[in-house]
Amino acid sequence: MTPEFWLNRWQRSELGWHEDEINRHLAEHWPRLELPKGTAVLVPLCGKSLDMLWLASCGHRVLGVDISPLAAEQFFAESQLEPRIEVRGPFQHYQVDEISVMIGDFFDLSPEQVAGIAAVYDRASLIALPPEMRPRYARHLATLLPADVRSLLITLEYEQSRMKGPPFAVVEPEVRALFEPNFQVETLSVFDALAESPRFRARGLDALDERVYQLRRLPPNP
Ligand SMILES: C[S@@+](CC[C@H](N)C(=O)[O-])C[C@H]1O[C@@H](n2cnc3c(N)ncnc32)[C@H](O)[C@@H]1O
Repeated sequence: MTPEFWLNRWQRSELGWHEDEINRHLAEHWPRLELPKGTAVLVPLCGKSLDMLWLASCGHRVLGVDISPLAAEQFFAESQLEPRIEVRGPFQHYQVDEISVMIGDFFDLSPEQVAGIAAVYDRASLIALPPEMRPRYARHLATLLPADVRSLLITLEYEQSRMKGPPFAVVEPEVRALFEPNFQVETLSVFDALAESPRFRARGLDALDERVYQLRRLPPNP
């Protein structure tokens, strides 16, 4: 999945992943992370997710990152917010109060640019990436985050041979292989999502689970 793939999806408004409501798992499981108000939350590959508004409404500072300027433009316009826009290095920053969306390549982010981040929210981000990009994504997150940062990660599990991603199936053993070198990994819940996913049924799935994890960054190896 190249940046062009995603830029084209935005240009053509093919945004099948976008949810018009706050993600149910976010509201249910976010309190498990036990984060103080004011904690800064990174939302990698954020799209125009309304979950960023929910996180801000909980008192968090929110930093989204997406490759497409349309993600930031639509997010703020649809939220009736007028962002300040600044260019900082390879990123364009759109900001209103506690919410910033950086436009650029997630893999270009440096630890300095996310200094102060103490939590991560990943819904439809890891699973947007093909298998060969996932190890780089997991390693890059580990490089960006200091010890003790907590993440909520939501994945999809289905029979990959029945449907072409994205979204891809990323099953628990793969999540553990990707993250356990640098994170403690705990499953919080597994939800049968088939009945509520007619578009995936239509693409051939007869089973579909959403799995919610809490990750916690371990201290880096000496
Ligand atoms: C499947 S969507 C999920 C968006 C969001 N997490 C949500 O739940 O609505 C994946 C998003 O990742 C963005 N993206 C893909 N590759 C990226 C990269 N290398 N850097 C930053 N954003 C990227 C795409 O533009 C797209 O908006």
